Amino acid sequence: MSYAIITGGATGLGRSFSNLLADQGYDLVLVSRSLEHLAAAQKEIQAKYKVKVQIYVGDLSNRVFLHKFIEFVTPYDVEILINNAGFGHNDAFSLSPLDKELNMIDLNIKALHELLKHFYQVFKINGKGRIINVSSLAGFVPGPYASTYYATKAYVNSLTRAVAYEAKKEDSNVIIQALCPGPLKTDFFKNAGTNPMHYKKHPDAAARLALDSKKVIIIPGFKEKLAHLLLKVFPTALSLRFAGMGQKRKRAK
Ligand SMILES: NC(=O)c1ccc[n+]([C@@H]2O[C@H](COP(=O)([O-])OP(=O)(O)OC[C@H]3O[C@@H](n4cnc5c(N)ncnc54)[C@H](OP(=O)(O)O)[C@@H]3O)[C@@H](O)[C@H]2O)c1
Repeated sequence: MSYAIITGGATGLGRSFSNLLADQGYDLVLVSRSLEHLAAAQKEIQAKYKVKVQIYVGDLSNRVFLHKFIEFVTPYDVEILINNAGFGHNDAFSLSPLDKELNMIDLNIKALHELLKHFYQVFKINGKGRIINVSSLAGFVPGPYASTYYATKAYVNSLTRAVAYEAKKEDSNVIIQALCPGPLKTDFFKNAGTNPMHYKKHPDAAARLALDSKKVIIIPGFKEKLAHLLLKVFPTALSLRFAGMGQKRKRAK
Protein backbone atom coordinates (compact mmCIF):
# COMPACT_ATOMS: atom_id res chain seq x y z
CA MET A 1 0.00 0.00 0.00
CA SER A 2 1.12 3.60 -0.58
CA TYR A 3 2.40 5.80 2.20
CA ALA A 4 0.98 8.97 3.72
CA ILE A 5 3.38 11.36 5.48
CA ILE A 6 1.93 13.33 8.36
CA THR A 7 4.19 15.96 9.93
CA GLY A 8 3.30 16.31 13.61
CA GLY A 9 1.24 13.16 13.09
CA ALA A 10 1.55 11.69 16.59
CA THR A 11 -0.66 14.20 18.42
CA GLY A 12 -3.51 16.67 17.96
CA LEU A 13 -4.93 17.31 14.49
CA GLY A 14 -2.03 15.38 12.92
CA ARG A 15 -2.98 12.30 14.95
CA SER A 16 -6.56 12.56 13.68
CA PHE A 17 -5.20 12.51 10.11
CA SER A 18 -2.94 9.55 11.00
CA ASN A 19 -5.84 7.50 12.38
CA LEU A 20 -8.14 8.28 9.46
CA LEU A 21 -5.52 7.55 6.79
CA ALA A 22 -4.51 4.30 8.54
CA ASP A 23 -8.19 3.38 8.60
CA GLN A 24 -8.23 3.89 4.80
CA GLY A 25 -5.35 1.41 4.57
CA TYR A 26 -2.41 3.77 4.05
CA ASP A 27 0.95 2.96 5.59
CA LEU A 28 2.27 6.00 7.45
CA VAL A 29 5.42 8.02 8.04
CA LEU A 30 5.12 10.23 11.11
CA VAL A 31 7.70 12.90 11.99
CA SER A 32 8.00 15.20 15.00
CA ARG A 33 10.36 15.95 17.89
CA SER A 34 9.00 13.69 20.64
CA LEU A 35 10.12 10.07 20.40
CA GLU A 36 7.74 9.21 23.22
CA HIS A 37 4.68 10.52 21.33
CA LEU A 38 5.80 8.99 18.04
CA ALA A 39 6.50 5.56 19.55
CA ALA A 40 3.12 5.53 21.33
CA ALA A 41 1.31 6.53 18.13
CA GLN A 42 3.21 3.88 16.13
CA LYS A 43 2.27 1.14 18.59
CA GLU A 44 -1.40 2.13 18.84
CA ILE A 45 -1.96 2.67 15.10
CA GLN A 46 -0.17 -0.53 14.03
CA ALA A 47 -2.18 -2.56 16.56
CA LYS A 48 -5.53 -1.05 15.63
CA TYR A 49 -5.32 -0.63 11.84
CA LYS A 50 -2.76 -3.30 10.87
CA VAL A 51 -0.74 -0.89 8.69
CA LYS A 52 2.99 -0.09 8.76
CA VAL A 53 3.98 3.06 10.67
CA GLN A 54 7.50 4.46 10.23
CA ILE A 55 8.59 7.14 12.68
CA TYR A 56 11.32 9.75 12.33
CA VAL A 57 12.35 11.96 15.23
CA GLY A 58 13.56 15.53 14.86
CA ASP A 59 12.93 19.21 14.41
CA LEU A 60 11.51 20.17 11.01
CA SER A 61 12.39 23.82 11.58
CA ASN A 62 16.02 22.74 11.25
CA ARG A 63 16.90 22.61 7.54
CA VAL A 64 19.63 20.00 7.95
CA PHE A 65 17.12 17.70 9.67
CA LEU A 66 14.47 18.51 7.05
CA HIS A 67 16.81 17.36 4.27
CA LYS A 68 17.63 14.17 6.20
CA PHE A 69 13.93 13.52 6.55
CA ILE A 70 13.35 13.98 2.81
CA GLU A 71 16.20 11.53 2.18
CA PHE A 72 14.66 9.08 4.65
CA VAL A 73 11.27 9.06 2.90
CA THR A 74 12.62 8.97 -0.66
CA PRO A 75 12.47 5.13 -1.00
CA TYR A 76 8.83 5.03 0.09
CA ASP A 77 5.93 5.15 -2.36
CA VAL A 78 4.38 8.32 -0.95
CA GLU A 79 0.95 9.35 -2.22
CA ILE A 80 -0.22 11.83 0.44
CA LEU A 81 1.52 14.58 2.40
CA ILE A 82 -0.22 16.23 5.34
CA ASN A 83 1.86 19.33 6.01
CA ASN A 84 0.54 19.74 9.55
CA ALA A 85 3.31 20.54 12.07
CA GLY A 86 3.05 24.10 13.30
CA PHE A 87 2.70 26.25 16.39
CA GLY A 88 1.59 29.71 17.48
CA HIS A 89 2.36 32.35 20.04
CA ASN A 90 -0.19 34.57 21.73
CA ASP A 91 1.25 37.92 22.83
CA ALA A 92 1.79 41.51 21.74
CA PHE A 93 4.35 41.80 18.94
CA SER A 94 6.61 44.04 21.05
CA LEU A 95 6.70 41.39 23.82
CA SER A 96 6.98 38.20 21.74
CA PRO A 97 10.42 36.57 21.79
CA LEU A 98 12.07 37.11 18.39
CA ASP A 99 13.70 33.65 18.44
CA LYS A 100 10.31 31.99 18.88
CA GLU A 101 8.84 34.05 16.03
CA LEU A 102 11.71 33.19 13.69
CA ASN A 103 11.43 29.53 14.66
CA MET A 104 7.70 29.71 13.87
CA ILE A 105 8.52 31.10 10.42
CA ASP A 106 11.07 28.28 9.95
CA LEU A 107 8.43 25.64 10.76
CA ASN A 108 5.04 27.08 9.69
CA ILE A 109 6.40 28.64 6.49
CA LYS A 110 9.82 27.38 5.41
CA ALA A 111 9.50 23.67 6.27
CA LEU A 112 5.97 23.55 4.87
CA HIS A 113 7.14 25.36 1.71
CA GLU A 114 10.08 23.03 1.13
CA LEU A 115 8.02 19.86 1.72
CA LEU A 116 5.30 21.21 -0.58
CA LYS A 117 7.81 21.92 -3.34
CA HIS A 118 9.59 18.58 -2.98
CA PHE A 119 6.46 16.44 -2.96
CA TYR A 120 4.68 18.46 -5.63
CA GLN A 121 7.64 17.73 -7.92
CA VAL A 122 7.67 14.01 -6.96
CA PHE A 123 3.88 13.68 -7.34
CA LYS A 124 3.98 15.40 -10.75
CA ILE A 125 6.49 12.83 -11.96
CA ASN A 126 4.37 10.02 -10.47
CA GLY A 127 1.26 11.45 -12.14
CA LYS A 128 -0.71 11.46 -8.88
CA GLY A 129 -0.63 12.63 -5.28
CA ARG A 130 -2.29 14.85 -2.73
CA ILE A 131 -0.95 17.53 -0.38
CA ILE A 132 -2.99 19.09 2.42
CA ASN A 133 -1.32 22.12 3.99
CA VAL A 134 -2.71 22.73 7.46
CA SER A 135 -3.47 26.41 7.72
CA SER A 136 -6.06 28.18 9.86
CA LEU A 137 -8.95 30.64 9.78
CA ALA A 138 -6.25 32.93 11.17
CA GLY A 139 -4.83 33.06 7.65
CA PHE A 140 -7.67 35.27 6.42
CA VAL A 141 -7.11 38.30 8.65
CA PRO A 142 -4.22 40.13 10.34
CA GLY A 143 -4.14 38.98 14.00
CA PRO A 144 -3.06 41.47 16.63
CA TYR A 145 -1.64 39.71 19.75
CA ALA A 146 -0.76 36.63 17.66
CA SER A 147 0.55 38.57 14.66
CA THR A 148 3.33 36.25 13.48
CA TYR A 149 1.13 33.15 13.67
CA TYR A 150 -1.64 34.80 11.64
CA ALA A 151 0.92 36.01 9.09
CA THR A 152 2.41 32.52 8.70
CA LYS A 153 -1.03 31.10 7.96
CA ALA A 154 -1.78 33.91 5.46
CA TYR A 155 1.37 32.76 3.65
CA VAL A 156 0.13 29.16 3.63
CA ASN A 157 -3.28 30.17 2.22
CA SER A 158 -1.76 32.32 -0.50
CA LEU A 159 0.87 29.77 -1.51
CA THR A 160 -1.65 26.92 -1.54
CA ARG A 161 -4.13 28.78 -3.75
CA ALA A 162 -1.43 29.69 -6.26
CA VAL A 163 0.20 26.24 -6.44
CA ALA A 164 -3.21 24.51 -6.60
CA TYR A 165 -4.06 26.76 -9.56
CA GLU A 166 -0.83 25.78 -11.34
CA ALA A 167 -1.39 22.09 -10.58
CA LYS A 168 -4.85 22.25 -12.16
CA LYS A 169 -3.77 24.27 -15.20
CA GLU A 170 -0.92 21.84 -15.84
CA ASP A 171 -3.25 18.80 -15.58
CA SER A 172 -0.75 17.38 -13.10
CA ASN A 173 -3.28 15.11 -11.38
CA VAL A 174 -1.85 16.42 -8.08
CA ILE A 175 -4.34 17.78 -5.56
CA ILE A 176 -3.15 20.70 -3.44
CA GLN A 177 -5.37 21.95 -0.60
CA ALA A 178 -5.30 24.02 2.58
CA LEU A 179 -7.29 23.08 5.67
CA CYS A 180 -8.32 26.19 7.63
CA PRO A 181 -9.86 25.17 10.96
CA GLY A 182 -11.02 27.39 13.80
CA PRO A 183 -10.03 26.56 17.40
CA LEU A 184 -9.49 22.85 18.12
CA LYS A 185 -8.99 20.89 21.30
CA THR A 186 -5.29 19.99 21.01
CA ASP A 187 -2.01 20.83 22.77
CA PHE A 188 -1.68 23.89 20.53
CA PHE A 189 -2.62 26.25 23.38
CA LYS A 190 0.27 25.08 25.60
CA ASN A 191 2.80 26.31 23.05
CA ALA A 192 0.85 29.42 22.14
CA GLY A 193 0.23 30.69 25.68
CA THR A 194 -3.50 30.63 25.01
CA ASN A 195 -6.20 29.83 27.52
CA PRO A 196 -7.23 26.18 26.84
CA MET A 197 -10.90 26.87 27.62
CA HIS A 198 -11.19 28.45 24.15
CA TYR A 199 -10.28 25.18 22.43
CA LYS A 200 -13.37 22.99 22.35
CA LYS A 201 -13.73 21.14 19.05
CA HIS A 202 -12.21 17.69 18.67
CA PRO A 203 -9.84 17.64 15.67
CA ASP A 204 -11.25 14.40 14.16
CA ALA A 205 -14.12 16.19 12.41
CA ALA A 206 -11.79 18.74 10.75
CA ALA A 207 -9.44 16.00 9.52
CA ARG A 208 -12.32 13.86 8.21
CA LEU A 209 -13.85 16.80 6.38
CA ALA A 210 -10.51 17.68 4.83
CA LEU A 211 -9.93 14.16 3.54
CA ASP A 212 -13.44 14.07 2.04
CA SER A 213 -13.17 17.52 0.46
CA LYS A 214 -12.28 18.44 -3.12
CA LYS A 215 -12.05 22.17 -2.37
CA VAL A 216 -8.74 24.04 -2.45
CA ILE A 217 -9.56 25.99 0.71
CA ILE A 218 -11.30 23.77 3.23
CA ILE A 219 -13.16 25.41 6.08
CA PRO A 220 -14.57 22.84 8.50
CA GLY A 221 -17.72 23.67 10.52
CA PHE A 222 -20.70 26.00 10.22
CA LYS A 223 -19.40 28.67 12.64
CA GLU A 224 -16.05 28.68 10.87
CA LYS A 225 -17.70 29.08 7.45
CA LEU A 226 -19.76 31.97 8.81
CA ALA A 227 -16.63 33.58 10.30
CA HIS A 228 -14.89 33.21 6.93
CA LEU A 229 -17.83 34.80 5.14
CA LEU A 230 -17.89 37.73 7.57
CA LEU A 231 -14.15 38.21 7.13
CA LYS A 232 -14.78 38.50 3.38
CA VAL A 233 -17.50 41.13 3.68
CA PHE A 234 -16.24 43.16 6.64
CA PRO A 235 -13.75 45.94 5.97
CA THR A 236 -10.25 44.79 7.07
CA ALA A 237 -10.11 47.49 9.77
CA LEU A 238 -13.16 45.94 11.44
CA SER A 239 -12.10 42.28 11.19
CA LEU A 240 -8.66 43.27 12.45
CA ARG A 241 -10.29 44.86 15.48
CA PHE A 242 -12.39 41.73 16.19
CA ALA A 243 -9.37 39.45 15.73
CA GLY A 244 -7.34 41.61 18.13
CA MET A 245 -10.11 41.59 20.75
CA GLY A 246 -10.44 37.81 20.41
CA GLN A 247 -6.72 37.14 20.76
CA LYS A 248 -6.38 39.48 23.76
CA ARG A 249 -9.24 37.64 25.47
CA LYS A 250 -7.67 34.25 24.73
CA ARG A 251 -4.25 35.10 26.18
CA ALA A 252 -3.35 32.92 29.18
CA LYS A 253 -3.11 35.12 32.28
N1 LIG B 1 -5.48 23.74 17.61
C1 LIG B 1 -6.04 24.72 16.94
O1 LIG B 1 -6.88 25.45 17.46
C2 LIG B 1 -5.67 24.98 15.49
C3 LIG B 1 -6.50 25.79 14.72
C4 LIG B 1 -6.16 26.03 13.39
C5 LIG B 1 -5.01 25.47 12.86
N2 LIG B 1 -4.21 24.69 13.63
C6 LIG B 1 -3.00 24.14 13.03
O2 LIG B 1 -3.04 22.73 13.14
C7 LIG B 1 -1.71 22.21 13.08
C8 LIG B 1 -1.55 21.15 14.15
O3 LIG B 1 -1.66 21.76 15.41
P1 LIG B 1 -2.44 21.07 16.64
O4 LIG B 1 -3.59 21.92 16.96
O5 LIG B 1 -2.66 19.65 16.40
O6 LIG B 1 -1.37 21.33 17.79
P2 LIG B 1 -0.40 20.30 18.54
O7 LIG B 1 -1.22 19.29 19.26
O8 LIG B 1 0.54 21.17 19.32
O9 LIG B 1 0.36 19.56 17.37
C9 LIG B 1 1.48 20.10 16.71
C10 LIG B 1 2.28 18.93 16.18
O10 LIG B 1 3.40 19.44 15.46
C11 LIG B 1 4.59 18.84 15.96
N3 LIG B 1 5.68 19.81 15.90
C12 LIG B 1 5.71 21.02 16.52
N4 LIG B 1 6.88 21.62 16.28
C13 LIG B 1 7.60 20.77 15.50
C14 LIG B 1 8.90 20.84 14.92
N5 LIG B 1 9.70 21.89 15.10
N6 LIG B 1 9.32 19.79 14.17
C15 LIG B 1 8.53 18.70 13.98
N7 LIG B 1 7.29 18.60 14.50
C16 LIG B 1 6.83 19.62 15.26
C17 LIG B 1 4.27 18.46 17.40
O11 LIG B 1 5.07 17.38 17.87
P3 LIG B 1 6.40 17.61 18.77
O12 LIG B 1 6.06 18.66 19.77
O13 LIG B 1 6.69 16.27 19.33
O14 LIG B 1 7.47 18.05 17.80
C18 LIG B 1 2.81 18.05 17.29
O15 LIG B 1 2.69 16.69 16.95
C19 LIG B 1 -0.77 23.42 13.22
O16 LIG B 1 -0.25 23.76 11.95
C20 LIG B 1 -1.70 24.51 13.73
O17 LIG B 1 -1.25 25.80 13.34
C21 LIG B 1 -4.51 24.41 14.94
